[in-house]
Amino acid sequence: MQLLEGTLPAQAIIDRLQSAVRALPVGGPRPTVAFVLVGEDGPSATYVARKQIAAEQVGFISRVIRLPETVSEAALLQVIQGLNEDASLHGILVQAPLPSHICGLTIFNAVLPTKDVDGFHAQNVGRLCQGDLGGLIPCTPAGVAELLRFYGISTAGKHVVVLGRSLTVGRPAAFLFLEKTWNATVTICHTGTQNVKAIAQQADILIVATGRPEWVNETHVRPGAIVIDVGINRVVDAAAKRGYRLVGDVDRKRVEGIAGAISPVPGGVGPLTVAKLMDNTYLAFSHSLA
Ligand SMILES: NC(=O)c1ccc[n+]([C@@H]2O[C@H](COP(=O)([O-])OP(=O)(O)OC[C@H]3O[C@@H](n4cnc5c(N)ncnc54)[C@H](OP(=O)(O)O)[C@@H]3O)[C@@H](O)[C@H]2O)c1
Repeated sequence: MQLLEGTLPAQAIIDRLQSAVRALPVGGPRPTVAFVLVGEDGPSATYVARKQIAAEQVGFISRVIRLPETVSEAALLQVIQGLNEDASLHGILVQAPLPSHICGLTIFNAVLPTKDVDGFHAQNVGRLCQGDLGGLIPCTPAGVAELLRFYGISTAGKHVVVLGRSLTVGRPAAFLFLEKTWNATVTICHTGTQNVKAIAQQADILIVATGRPEWVNETHVRPGAIVIDVGINRVVDAAAKRGYRLVGDVDRKRVEGIAGAISPVPGGVGPLTVAKLMDNTYLAFSHSLA
């Protein structure tokens, strides 16, 4: 069984962007991105820290705007408005999940589409649905596509089954692979789907984004299928240094020996999501100069 590690293709993107930044005129504008972090959620803080490190690595300027868990939706919208109006800023990312009193869609749609490096604004999602790949494409699905491309796995004519229909992962992944460039036949499953296992077993490529730790097992996977585990979950583990360990949405041990290939967690889709965010930031920067 092949292990589809994301670190190599992610590094290739980082290297390419580093060279692009080095080639920029001295004293001119540099790609600049703002990360908005609401609350004290541990995983969210870790993700933002990773994104900041990656931005530094490629030579971007980054800022983190930290807001308390109790911030009102109106106050958050005001912060976003200020960032939208800041001409020195090319990318804005509001780290999900947001506290329950804030509507995620309202916030994502408040970010200027040209600065929407997460790709969650209705305009960018709409372009993707229209089959227009010229917008800012959500980073995790774009990362999955890059992982498959890097390992020479074609999706053309294949049955791609996506488990999960979130705005951030499942839905845009389905639209991406439906587009002619990827040319897959796509099925999406969610909690209302009957007989998920039987559908998952039909997949040539199974993309799992359910947020259920190690839920997918050998009963979901047909022999030789490619399994992309998007999940990242912290599960309590007293033996681990931090008191938890990271697992995916797939029980890798149970799927090994059946799947033809699987992306590991950690070190699979995660690094590519971050690299694709950097790619989107550079794209937003380039468009701002045009
Ligand atoms: N690697 C990365 O960079 C990255 C980035 C983002 C997220 N993630 C991880 O990816 C996973 C999914 O994230 P998300 O934000 O998409 O989660 P989410 O918003 O909670 O969405 C989960 C989706 O899975 C569906 N689902 C849940 N249980 C199911 C079941 N038994 N059968 C079929 N569908 C089921 C839900 O269906 P309903 O719509 O019917 O509720 C929902 O559409 C999480 O583990 C998250 O941590 C990783």
